[in-house]
Amino acid sequence: MIVAIDGPAASGKGTLGKRIAEHFGFAHLDTGLLYRAVARDVLARGAALENEMVAIDCARSLDPASLADPVLRQAGIGEAASIVARIEEVRTALLQFQREFALRKPGAVLDGRDIGTVVCPDADVKIFVTAQPEVRARRRHLERRAAGDDISYREVLNLIRQRDARDAGRASAPMRPASDAVLLDTTNLDIETAFDAAVGLIKRKIGQ
Ligand code: C5P
Repeated sequence: MIVAIDGPAASGKGTLGKRIAEHFGFAHLDTGLLYRAVARDVLARGAALENEMVAIDCARSLDPASLADPVLRQAGIGEAASIVARIEEVRTALLQFQREFALRKPGAVLDGRDIGTVVCPDADVKIFVTAQPEVRARRRHLERRAAGDDISYREVLNLIRQRDARDAGRASAPMRPASDAVLLDTTNLDIETAFDAAVGLIKRKIGQ
């Protein structure tokens, strides 16, 4: 059983993926961590994020054990990740790890931007989680304030808009809903309601 969850930054897809995996006893992979880890490794080598040769090399030599590094959750690394994520060979280098993960039993939940379209086009359930940019920015702003960061709401909104444009506008595996994905708009939905909707979808699929 493969559950693909895609969507933009701060849409709620990560929380949803984690909760769905816990509920059904499935493995969970936040694929954004892979791109974040490549960005971290490029910066650690003292290279620019735009340096394709270094980014490709970092993707090819990525150590999956390093995905637990708390640095990957820090603010700013998501933006850095979206720069290296534009490079096609970086994406190709990360594909096999994701596809092998998706085969875990009894099931796997992968969340990202291109799971339903590229990584697992044959996923059993595909969900594309969206929410208006202003609502996502408000959520992200609250999180960052709670973590002691005094960034303004405007700045967070600008970062979200820039990242959406970069992720949806790139040539290689752009962020978009698969044609057979169910759209889940969390603009006016709390996490519980979104979770219940997703569980219902998966149960219907299992029952088939
Ligand atoms: O989901 P998260 O915010 O951690 O992702 C960071 C960045 O990694 C995204 O903005 C996107 O550019 C890239 N990404 C991707 N494909 C995925 C997951 C993440 O391109 N499947």
